[in-house]
Amino acid sequence: MSTVLVAGGAGYVGSHTVKALAEAAYDVVVYDNLRAGHREAVDRLVAAFPERRITFVQGDILDGTRVRETLETTGASAVLHFAALLSVVGSVHDPFAYYRNNVVGTMTVLEAMAAAGVKHFVFSSTCATFGEPRTPALDESHPQHPINAYGETKLAVERALPHLETATGIRSVALRYFNASGADPDGLIGEDHRPEEHLIPRAIAAARGGEGLAIFGDDYPTHDGTCVRDYVHVCDLAAAHVAALRRLEAGGPSGRFNLGSGTGMTVRQILDAVGRVVGRPVPHTIGPRRAGDPARLVASSGLAARELQWTPRFGLDAIVQTAWAWHTAHPDGYGGAKPVDS
Ligand code: UD1
Repeated sequence: MSTVLVAGGAGYVGSHTVKALAEAAYDVVVYDNLRAGHREAVDRLVAAFPERRITFVQGDILDGTRVRETLETTGASAVLHFAALLSVVGSVHDPFAYYRNNVVGTMTVLEAMAAAGVKHFVFSSTCATFGEPRTPALDESHPQHPINAYGETKLAVERALPHLETATGIRSVALRYFNASGADPDGLIGEDHRPEEHLIPRAIAAARGGEGLAIFGDDYPTHDGTCVRDYVHVCDLAAAHVAALRRLEAGGPSGRFNLGSGTGMTVRQILDAVGRVVGRPVPHTIGPRRAGDPARLVASSGLAARELQWTPRFGLDAIVQTAWAWHTAHPDGYGGAKPVDS
């Protein structure tokens, strides 16, 4: 079975994808600078899959020589690329860092792939490439006009990929996640962002008696006034990466796919779902709107269903239950002090 390099494989979606790859009998090289990723996540995966070769290389995607050497020495035949700064708010404050890491860093990886002769690339993209939605559900034909630097950096890469393919023959699949959430149902790995900005882990922390939660605006034109999002389980996203890799390995064409459940949930509905699982209401206040939050973002994932044979297996209850189980078992996440990253 082939070896694949997973850039950012110590992070949230990356580590869950490493697990899915190991289950699909791939050998994996995790390449991560550990600024936001967790060595502990990789160590757990190595221990859980003794029959697979999962190796770890600490390196930065901006170090093209190291990426190229890693590809050449491991004989990797594909790159799955998750290494990115991911905070919308952070991207507004420090767009330089976002362009450097997410655009220059990704170009550096692709250039190293071209030099090493690696032709398959699976890219973590985002629904933030669409900007303000013009239709109730977003399919791949929806215009892409990002409203923050984070979305712009991901779209810049998406737009570069066809040109790079013409020049180098690298085929790619870009996967635009909606709201990644939940945790490994086996409890091996989970979500640990620092600082944590995402709704579900914040709601769980509030329910556990931690910092109170503010709903960012309750005057949106939605049925209960709070923002509607499409929450998709991280293991379903991981499965989509394996499907995308197989498509490329089978000689399939490059593609771009929107990945969501197709179901919109308001912030209040999420707090209710967390309250049901935890067994007590989530304490919260109503705060002002957060800049850059569209009222509603829901995916139409029909193309992924048709072309990748991908449909989500986990619903909202499973998302909240697996997240709750992870945070209950690991109240400090992977533990240890980590530098705060945006
Ligand atoms: C955002 C991006 C998404 C990106 C993801 C990565 C947009 C529109 N979406 O997701 O593309 O992949 O970040 O991090 O740019 N909320 C509260 N209180 C809180 C936290 C969140 O009310 O304390 C609300 C938000 O306003 C939002 C929803 O909960 O409506 C989900 O927020 P969050 O989990 O941060 O994800 P997005 O911002 O939707």
